[in-house]
Amino acid sequence: MAAGIAEVALLAGFEVVVRSRTERGAADLVAQVSKSLGKRVERGKLESHVRDTALQHLTTTTTLEDLSRGSIVIESVVEDYEQKMLLLRQLDSVMPVGSIIATNTSTLSVSDLALATLQPDRVCGIHFFNPATTMPLVEVIRPATASQSTIEAALAFVAACGKDAVLVRDDPGFIVNALLFPYLNNAIKMMERGTASIDDIDTAMKGGCNFPMGPFALLDLVGLDTSLSIIETLHAASGKDADRPAESLVRLVGEGHLGRKTGRGFHTY
Ligand code: CAA
Repeated sequence: MAAGIAEVALLAGFEVVVRSRTERGAADLVAQVSKSLGKRVERGKLESHVRDTALQHLTTTTTLEDLSRGSIVIESVVEDYEQKMLLLRQLDSVMPVGSIIATNTSTLSVSDLALATLQPDRVCGIHFFNPATTMPLVEVIRPATASQSTIEAALAFVAACGKDAVLVRDDPGFIVNALLFPYLNNAIKMMERGTASIDDIDTAMKGGCNFPMGPFALLDLVGLDTSLSIIETLHAASGKDADRPAESLVRLVGEGHLGRKTGRGFHTY
């Protein structure tokens, strides 16, 4: 997701500094962006000089302080409240006055994350979808603490990236995940009950609803760890037994089968 967001911002003409915890992580991200831009050039969708300029505007660092010239930062670390909260606190002390701190969280409370900082008025959610380079939508999440200027700047950034923004209150799952993940979780439970196979459920939802991919292919694309975390958050918010994560999802994550990124999830890649 971080590579996708960086690519979107680069193609919109922004200077992008990516901070990764390790040199290896930073190098992997540059390789991913470079490969993706290269594919666009090969397909005739991007001029090679635009790719070259975009790559010149990308720098990486392992030091948070190197982000301090930025006007907007988007954190996209693992979907874990403690880790996101600690990072936002650090960003709050590093980012200059007047800059915006955004979280790309899928379901965590943006208000709780904002209140962990000393300047919650400049914290909001900017939530991209997988694959970020292709999906047109970005949700801008407005916690009660955010100032109007923060929200306006976030909406302006999303528009500058060529994406369609929707503004949403800080409710669990926002718009898309609140509606999408109960469906994905129910697809797994349907398979567990023996109603139909993984392949047939995928085929049914593609052919029967014109969805671009079936629920299992989509879970694998999003990542099973991320999917589990989203479903757990929605379950905690509703408290309903029907929203409990499906057993196979919990098992696959426990076994380290996380979808496309590990080569195996509900499908094998
Ligand atoms: N990663 C990055 N880019 C990808 C990709 C991937 N895994 N798969 C496809 N793409 C890109 C291609 O490079 C191509 O880009 P260009 O148009 O710039 O060349 C574009 O997507 C279309 O690809 P294809 O024509 O090869 O494939 P397709 O027509 O089958 O579309 C798809 C692929 C866009 C992924 C489509 O199947 C789709 O829209 N699927 C549904 C995706 C979806 O619902 N995402 C939301 C998930 S929920 C979420 O993300 C929320 C969260 O908080 C976790």
